[in-house]
Amino acid sequence: MRSHTCGELNATHLDQEVDLCGWVHRRRDHGGVIFIDLRDREGLVQIVFDPDQVEAFKLAESVRSEYVLKVHGRVRRRPAGTENANLPTGAIEVFATALEILNKAETPPFPIESEIEVNEETRLRYRYIDLRRPVMQGRMRMRRDITRFLRNFLDHHGFYEIETPFLTKATPEGARDYLVPSRTHENAFFALPQSPQLYKQLLMISGMDRYYQVVRCFRDEDLRADRQPEFTQLDIETSFLDENAIMFLMEAMIRDLFAEVLQTELPNPFPRMTYAEAMRRYASDKPDLRIPLELIDIADVLQNVDFKVFAGPAKDPDGRVVALKLPGGCELSRKEIDDLTQFVGIYGAKGLAYIKVNDRTQGLEGLQSPILKFLPEDAVRAILDRTEAETGDLIFFGADKAKIVNEAMGALRVKLGQDRGLVEKGWKPLWVTDFPMFEWDEKSGRWFALHHPFTAPNCSEDELLAHPGSALSRAYDMVLNGTEIGGGSIRIHRTDMQSKVFELLGIGEEEAQQKFGFLLNALKYGAPPHGGLAFGLDRLVMLMSGASSIREVMAFPKTQSAWCPLIDAPAEVSDVQLRELGIKLRKPKEPV
Ligand code: AMO
Ligand code: AMP
Repeated sequence: MRSHTCGELNATHLDQEVDLCGWVHRRRDHGGVIFIDLRDREGLVQIVFDPDQVEAFKLAESVRSEYVLKVHGRVRRRPAGTENANLPTGAIEVFATALEILNKAETPPFPIESEIEVNEETRLRYRYIDLRRPVMQGRMRMRRDITRFLRNFLDHHGFYEIETPFLTKATPEGARDYLVPSRTHENAFFALPQSPQLYKQLLMISGMDRYYQVVRCFRDEDLRADRQPEFTQLDIETSFLDENAIMFLMEAMIRDLFAEVLQTELPNPFPRMTYAEAMRRYASDKPDLRIPLELIDIADVLQNVDFKVFAGPAKDPDGRVVALKLPGGCELSRKEIDDLTQFVGIYGAKGLAYIKVNDRTQGLEGLQSPILKFLPEDAVRAILDRTEAETGDLIFFGADKAKIVNEAMGALRVKLGQDRGLVEKGWKPLWVTDFPMFEWDEKSGRWFALHHPFTAPNCSEDELLAHPGSALSRAYDMVLNGTEIGGGSIRIHRTDMQSKVFELLGIGEEEAQQKFGFLLNALKYGAPPHGGLAFGLDRLVMLMSGASSIREVMAFPKTQSAWCPLIDAPAEVSDVQLRELGIKLRKPKEPV
């Protein structure tokens, strides 16, 4: 139907006869001449309709926004002074000699412009129109570029792309499963995979050596800007590589990706930081290193003060007391501090003590704070020294169980960085390593795997059993600008170690056999040492394209409540279907 795309035309096509197809982006009547900006995936081009071309002109008068047209015409230079330097096709226009309306269009629910203010539900309901916007087309293009680059890189490095099943059994990655009832096996359910973790390990046992897959994963969890119920991983597994070799290869891939797609140089090598250091300095296992604020532990100077709010957590082995210095923070108003106090409250903090350093040269006289009266002078001096506070700075305090302090003060650090414009420009990747194997859960009174139960510990079986709480794992996360873009580990490849880890996690022998018997068995038949990781592809595209959420880089995402407004899913099913599946609803459907 067409000889060229709209966006590709330029001065090299002068005087050529072309056939173009596309959408009417804009139509302007200019005293007898009609201009139509015709749009396709590759861009916009200006078409000129002159009354001399009687038939084409008459039709052009009838077209409206988003009509689909086929145009025949000749490329000519735009008259001097009417060029558009901002448009790749801006030096030329197409003088139309024939026009065919391929399809009409109703007025779209919102304009096809990059910058629009339309609520997200409407955008998702009309996603096919939303995706026409140049900004969305650009994101889809970048996603294609990124995926293509990653595939090429891995193909080049000897990886096989292998598909693994979607109809599978629940794997414990920490979220709820999406279940699929089986018609042919009464009372039994498939689970959609939270990740292909166990299949990729089985592929290593199968001798596939290096595997990857661009694969959908399904997790029924609470959604956020960087979480979707179905999302895409670049999933990777290798045999006979240790963690250093894997990190080396993977960061080379990401560095090359940024060089190719964004023409940006990332550091070589990526810095590495242990989990313990990340938590100590940033109260986060995915620190945003663009924010130049750090937490400073001060429990030791507050253990014996009378102020219980600080002394309690300072003496508690599970407690933490930190200071967070905000340079220039004296300008914060009472109201702003109250708002921040409310903000940390979301994370369970019971308050947000602070000291304003109005004038450091005046010692204690130069300070302003609601808690000064509770603190001995030497403690205050020690805090000022340790935080290296200067005139104009404000010091915030967090004191509570370590978990609460980390969540609240880690989030406060990021918020202050963003609100106060302290986030440095550019890219700050890093590896976080040496994660604990397990995390103790007070409520259920048992250990949980921090990564997943197939991650190898960094110690012997005996040490692991003796001190599960302090055992470290051979896991690593890749973090970029405060987002975890990928994570993985060296896996357990011996049956006895795997059984011990299950045992520690409170998975009894019988349950282990029932749930993971296939893995325990497979490990007996010559499992090679293996490890890998998975990148969150959507997150990577989000960061690289500068989008604010992963929904902006997925063609058909779900809303925050895991609903698709476009096709209206999930939806009820017929009684016949339910009966076939042997399912009876607990709360019967409302009669229609
Ligand atoms: P993990 O659970 O850390 O590891 O997931 C890997 C990466 O996937 C991305 N991700 C998500 N992206 C969007 N929406 C979600 N709901 C979501 N959940 C995770 C993150 C994360 O870093 N099997 C292991 C990998 C391995 O050990 O090899 C796994 O799935 O960017
Ligand atoms: P209170 O004695 O509870 O009125 O608290 C005195 C000051 O300490 C107030 O500024 C509170 O915001 C602050 N504060 C209370 N609890 C904490 C906490 N757990 N961490 C940090 N500051 C707190």
